[in-house]
Amino acid sequence: MKIIHDPLEMRMESIALRNAGKKTGFVPTMGALHNGHIFLLKEAKKRNDITIMSIFVNPAQFGKNEDFNKYPRPFEEDCRIAEMNGCDILFAPAVDMIYPENYATYITVERLSEILEGAIRPDHFKGVTTIVLKLFNIVQPVEAIFGQKDIQQAIILRKMVIDLNIQITIHVLPTVREKDGLALSSRNIYLTDEERKAAPLLYKGLCWAVDAYKKGEDCSKRLEQGILNVYFQTDRFLPQYIAIVDVEKLEPVSTISSVTVIAVACKTAQSHTRLIDNVLLNGEL
Ligand code: PAF
Repeated sequence: MKIIHDPLEMRMESIALRNAGKKTGFVPTMGALHNGHIFLLKEAKKRNDITIMSIFVNPAQFGKNEDFNKYPRPFEEDCRIAEMNGCDILFAPAVDMIYPENYATYITVERLSEILEGAIRPDHFKGVTTIVLKLFNIVQPVEAIFGQKDIQQAIILRKMVIDLNIQITIHVLPTVREKDGLALSSRNIYLTDEERKAAPLLYKGLCWAVDAYKKGEDCSKRLEQGILNVYFQTDRFLPQYIAIVDVEKLEPVSTISSVTVIAVACKTAQSHTRLIDNVLLNGEL
């Protein structure tokens, strides 16, 4: 596996690969790799000649009081995991190579970036779209692969790609979970033991809703209430939102008939870790 730190070198490499007729698949990450990332990497490997992964903890997507400084950065271990799982090129730029002094250009997908996660984390998606577009320009992949766990991110990135005529296909793969249902996340390590025990309830609430929908309940209000009832079983986390929305505009639907996202977010009481999760009804991304 080749490790590249310099954006210019990465771009030259990508151009050479493209000129050699190689199809490149790209998995952007912030490192602290887990089985969810490995799943994306393996899928990229299956679908492409060359697999490129980036590791970059992007300061622009963290709020002032968020965990940028404490975000895990086990770089050596990440390199080992990436190489073992078929990564051909690992791109890991330094912050000042991506945001030099006087950096001033940001990308915003309006409206979609302001709701749900965006309402709680202002500027988060502006940071995500900016870094992903920069990475796309540097890496120039044929396709890029993201996880459904960050469903709003995936929907916003697809919108950016359409709106800006970017010739990269975005694939979104299902969420990888622990045996007890908790969605894998690099932030799960922040959970206290008690919070970790309670955390699977987040997905249990979603499973309850899927089941209720399958049995004929299509009223969003009643489904939301049912999910809340599951979450009331613990005082280890506080729900921040339960949203039942359409898959394109992320606008609330009152009765479910077409492809619908149920997205939930909560904050744990002790470690103040945010957990998000979602399920799709009537289709996939
Ligand atoms: O999903 C992530 O890990 C990040 O938001 C991404 C897409 C790598 C951008 O920093």
